[in-house]
Amino acid sequence: MKRHQIAVLFSGRGSNLDAIIKRSKNEDSLYDVKIAMTDNPEANGIQICYHSGVPCFIAPKNQWKWSMFDALNDLKIDLVVLAGFMRILPEIFCERWKNKCINIHPSLLPKYRGLDTHKRVLESSNTEHGCSVHYVITKLDAGPIIAQSKVQILENESEESLAKRVLEQENRLFPEVIQSLVGHKIHTSDNNVYYYGKKIDEPLSLSILQD
Ligand code: GRF
Repeated sequence: MKRHQIAVLFSGRGSNLDAIIKRSKNEDSLYDVKIAMTDNPEANGIQICYHSGVPCFIAPKNQWKWSMFDALNDLKIDLVVLAGFMRILPEIFCERWKNKCINIHPSLLPKYRGLDTHKRVLESSNTEHGCSVHYVITKLDAGPIIAQSKVQILENESEESLAKRVLEQENRLFPEVIQSLVGHKIHTSDNNVYYYGKKIDEPLSLSILQD
């Protein structure tokens, strides 16, 4: 079966990039990581690309926007995946890749959009936290939510331990969402998300996606 071609944009550590690449090496994968792209020449994810043989585009300093957009347009990309890409994308990009661009965010959206999500949830009375995969729209962390993984907040939980447990969930969830998306099990229309053609009332979970 023809594999879909995805681009992964990242800015730092690259653990999600790594998980996405590893999943693509499975025999049943429906996607290939055609290219990874970063705005940060120091990003650890560049090493991950190097070791896994995935081409990595490192944007010229202060020109990440147009150089990346042009490079993406020149490639036959089916889906753009933001995996820890720490830049705000302009409207023109969001329109160009409408319904074909997804992001992972370390909170149970719509709670805690933006930064410092682990710190903020620990300061609250919430007993659970987690991560969300959503379609990208111009408004930050606000597009239709596709899937979530939850973790319970433990007593005396530190920001570090919570971040670690959420990241483990991210690394498991994100590749499976991509696999289902390119496999046409998931689509969006009018701000809603559909799974096998049926509108979902709550975000999909990893177990549903792996079923
Ligand atoms: C993740 O927590 C992701 O949710 C957020 O940025 C972080 C990136 O981590 N958007 P990594 O670079 O994938 O390890």
